[in-house]
Amino acid sequence: MTERTPLIAGNWKMNLGGAKGCELAEAVARAAQAHPNVDVVVAPPSTVIAAIAQISEENGKKLEVAGQNLYPKSDGAFTGEISAPMLLEAGAKWVILGHSERRQYFAESDDFVREKVAASLAAGLRPIACVGETLEEREAGKTLEVVNRQVDAFASLLSEQPGFGVIAYEPVWAIGTGKVATPEQAQEVHAAIRARLRETLGADVAEKTRILYGGSVKASNAAELLACPDIDGALVGGASLDAEGFAKIIQAAG
Ligand code: PGA
Repeated sequence: MTERTPLIAGNWKMNLGGAKGCELAEAVARAAQAHPNVDVVVAPPSTVIAAIAQISEENGKKLEVAGQNLYPKSDGAFTGEISAPMLLEAGAKWVILGHSERRQYFAESDDFVREKVAASLAAGLRPIACVGETLEEREAGKTLEVVNRQVDAFASLLSEQPGFGVIAYEPVWAIGTGKVATPEQAQEVHAAIRARLRETLGADVAEKTRILYGGSVKASNAAELLACPDIDGALVGGASLDAEGFAKIIQAAG
């Protein structure tokens, strides 16, 4: 079996877009240096991507920076949008795509998420593509149907460079609610996603693609989730805004 390096990513959402974000990034960069066997990424607001990329440079480059979204064209008349080449130029190496908040509040479809994943890969920006069911879908017994549909929309794009892109499983009912999936619930879906990748794209893609869990991950529950065989890391929202708590999650992955 391929060894997959654990990846802990902090999704700051629309928080800490100024000096406070830089302060937090300094602390996270130090935590990343202390745990060289864990890949550490933060996704700050776009306004501080360049500053945090600079902080990473000054602190051993162990911390990498992600955008939280992109528009799939490289430039042009798309007011308010930001492209993959622009994120790269600012110093980002990653981008979160298809987050449930984007799907929910900005009506992003599976097809649009696929376009975004394609644009990120074409530019050489590593995608963290998010999938996950709502509470209603889970209660209707449709979790795997929904997650497979969302994964199928972009997965074939990941097979050109197995391991370059990452998938994040984030059950919508667990995001920002404090209701974390149990390790059993999370592992079941992660194993199903990996089985789907194996079935549709082959063993190499399935073994090399990291699948992160996201949804109310914090210092106190990270270790038991990360111990599951198909959970290769975490995408952390609220708890990534606190330097000490986030450092503990990085430590739990090490
Ligand atoms: P949360 O968010 O950790 O605050 O639940 C996770 C996410 O939305 O990526």
